[in-house]
Amino acid sequence: MTVADAPSPLPASPAGPDIAALRARLLEWYDRQARVLPWRVGPHGRALGQRPDPYHVWLSEIMLQQTTVAAVGPYFARFLEAFPTLEALAQAPEEAVLGRWAGLGYYARARNLHACARAVLALGGFPQTVEALQALPGIGPYTAAAIAAIAFDQPVTPADGNVERVLARLWRIEAALPAAKPAFRAAAARFDGGARPGDFIQALMDLGATICTPRAPACALCPWIEPCGARAAGDAETFPRKTPKAARPVRHGLAFVAEDGQRLLLGRRPPKGLLGGMPEVPGTPWRTEGPWSLDEALPHAPVEGAGWRVRGTVQHVFTHFELVLVVAHARVRLPRGSFSCPVDDLDAGGLPSVMLKAARAGLSAGVAGKPVGERRRT
Ligand code: ADE
Repeated sequence: MTVADAPSPLPASPAGPDIAALRARLLEWYDRQARVLPWRVGPHGRALGQRPDPYHVWLSEIMLQQTTVAAVGPYFARFLEAFPTLEALAQAPEEAVLGRWAGLGYYARARNLHACARAVLALGGFPQTVEALQALPGIGPYTAAAIAAIAFDQPVTPADGNVERVLARLWRIEAALPAAKPAFRAAAARFDGGARPGDFIQALMDLGATICTPRAPACALCPWIEPCGARAAGDAETFPRKTPKAARPVRHGLAFVAEDGQRLLLGRRPPKGLLGGMPEVPGTPWRTEGPWSLDEALPHAPVEGAGWRVRGTVQHVFTHFELVLVVAHARVRLPRGSFSCPVDDLDAGGLPSVMLKAARAGLSAGVAGKPVGERRRT
């Protein structure tokens, strides 16, 4: 999209140095300050002609959707240990892929990742254009542009949250997110073209992540301190403007933690929908009407006649709602051959975060009604 196409207003002509000067200053900074990231070929490697592996770039971009660089690092390494190549990933069973994804959340990403690996293999490799990348499962416009720029040096400038913040401050963009996304795409597109597109976009990401932070930006260290409009006005922290969010609705469930001293009984979620196909602590449906009492929930218990006792509650924040789970526990005799994992190695169960919290709360000697576990976005 060009600036002229943008539906939301941008400052007509950016003040300060022109785009070429901004690009040059940022690249100079990146040459000295680039973060070392496991999927990245840094500026020196690139200068020597090294290219990033498109499989690594793609995997990192999918993992980084909704998750921080710090959180992704260990998952990225463990994932590549299990699936060192695109072929290995494409040929793996879906459950193995979901298992290695456990804890990263947004499990539709893992299923799409698997489907995408197969599609790319069928194509004989990753396509290089934004349009062709976007036609693949799980790759939206932002991710397509990020892969095209980073892996293939296509002259595009995708704007994630960090980049939006940098641009909002640089040009004091008043339009409020999320409605103003098109304005931010237009602002980023001012940088399209020019040398080293892959380094440039990663430089912009690094600037947002390390210097132009949401709070207390380190303006003294910023290569764009002089041209930055918000810095000059002294109101950098107030950008980007944001429309206040509506409160998340709350849903309630009750989870049954059944164990025999060795193993924890698990269920599997239906293949479609939230956490589709993932292992779970069996429980009631999740409803909006209010908390379940134990008596009311008993018809959903996975084992009849057990001495269920409420051990606590856990909370978990999903994108569109907050879940409050009452956790009941019982020592039971597990049916032979039932789906289960060791109580002292819950990680082996491949449980998503919310279910790990429930399992831990049920297995700990928690006090009834006491919230257990931290709130965390998956
Ligand atoms: N955020 C999203 N993609 C990224 C990348 N490739 N490097 C650093 N931060 C990112």
